[in-house]
Amino acid sequence: MTLDSRSVVIAPSMISADWWNVSNDVRALENAGCAWLHFDAMDAHFVPNLTLGPLFLRSVRPHSKLHFDAHLMMSDAGDFVDDFVAAGANSISVHVEANVHLHRVLERIKSGGALAGVVVNPATPIEILSAILPDVDYVLVMSVNPGFGGQKFLPLCLPKIAWLRSQREELGLNFLIQVDGGVSSETARSVVESGADILVVGSALFRKDVSLQESVRELRASFENEM
Ligand code: DX5
Ligand code: ZN
Repeated sequence: MTLDSRSVVIAPSMISADWWNVSNDVRALENAGCAWLHFDAMDAHFVPNLTLGPLFLRSVRPHSKLHFDAHLMMSDAGDFVDDFVAAGANSISVHVEANVHLHRVLERIKSGGALAGVVVNPATPIEILSAILPDVDYVLVMSVNPGFGGQKFLPLCLPKIAWLRSQREELGLNFLIQVDGGVSSETARSVVESGADILVVGSALFRKDVSLQESVRELRASFENEM
């Protein structure tokens, strides 16, 4: 469990990568010290966009030892959990808004050997997770409405992160807290100070003006300095 800003994990969001040269980006992220890669699966139903499925993970899997984190923005994600496990996902998160039988889906993820995460959209009250917190490995707090990279960070996520942090302490639980959407050098510090352990970052890392090495360094410096 991390209580230290230096051990905060940066999880680059692969929908912002260069898909033509994805191997270059994966190598660069490994060299920059990123431990996780975040794969966004969108189904054009739960969210208005269509992105990476399990076949994409499967094609990258043999070439990297990094932790592969799949974020399923899908209706009935339970039907696809086994495919993502087989593709090599180390952790899989599903939305509380899209899974009526959430407990069953989380158990299915865990029985496949992956970490099980639950995601909450910006408008969803975080307290909805009260009953399920003891059964999750991580909670993903959305700081944009899911569907696209490059959106503006919503500060309404900050009290949710703090609530999760206090629940974890009060109840003696171990789940990690992940935040996704609009995280950048301008916003990361508030997210880390509120209590996040894992930052998902897309457009703020994959930029034309600087290398991945430099953008990761810049992001990390934004929340590590003078904490
Ligand atoms: C949004 C996705 C995010 C997104 C993050 O629906 O779940 O992972 O790619 O991208 P940025 O950091 O650009 O908001
Ligand atoms: Zn995501």
